[in-house]
Amino acid sequence: MPIDPEQIERVYSNYAVVYDRVFGRVFQASREAVVRNLKIDPGERVLEVGVGTGLCLPMYPAHCDVTAIDLSQPMLEKAAARVKEHQLTNVKLQRMDAGNMTFAENSFDLVIAAYVVTAVPDYRKLMSEMVRVSRPGGRLVLLNHFTQDSPIIAAVEKAISPICIKMGFRTDLSVDEVIDGWPLIKERDERVKPLGMWHVVECLNNKGLNHGGHKGHEGKQER
Ligand SMILES: C[S@@+](CC[C@H](N)C(=O)[O-])C[C@H]1O[C@@H](n2cnc3c(N)ncnc32)[C@H](O)[C@@H]1O
Repeated sequence: MPIDPEQIERVYSNYAVVYDRVFGRVFQASREAVVRNLKIDPGERVLEVGVGTGLCLPMYPAHCDVTAIDLSQPMLEKAAARVKEHQLTNVKLQRMDAGNMTFAENSFDLVIAAYVVTAVPDYRKLMSEMVRVSRPGGRLVLLNHFTQDSPIIAAVEKAISPICIKMGFRTDLSVDEVIDGWPLIKERDERVKPLGMWHVVECLNNKGLNHGGHKGHEGKQER
């Protein structure tokens, strides 16, 4: 079920003031565990999509160049205050739709989306753009809630998704639904806190590296 882009922008703009107190603390240990342990070489170009209030930004090494985008101006203003507070001279912020980015293809070595795949209007557009702007051999990292293997829990997650969408996120996507069909090689899929219901999924961008190529998300309808 696609989510209305204006609704998403409105919801997250309304969250901006309280976001750090509500979603910040709950997920901060996972952000730390994932982002601080990404092996990022000096000079690497990192893109964070859906940066929100910038909670991950102080965790990137100073030796990489970070570009961070979000749809919501109020969220970006919070991120800008964090950049200033931490004197993050290697970070650039831009207001941009992650489903329709203006970056040239192959612009980044690492593209990360933390708690974003299930919060965007159309996850397929997000994935398409993440693949496009990351270089062949580059990495895509998704930190997100994905549906559980247990059929009972997965059924509950699907049932509550329409209610959660009103709050700005969906709960009915599995790892496979999100990454299958793109030229990605899944190198890591680990559960993270809280409750092990969130995953860190790390993929190698395999586009142009073999003849498998893109297996065809075009034409696949949004659920
Ligand atoms: C749940 S928040 C996650 C924020 C941050 N990554 C974090 O770790 O707290 C989702 C963010 O995605 C942004 N977002 C949703 N749809 C987007 C889109 N199409 N393009 C860019 N940002 C988007 C929202 O504005 C919001 O800031």
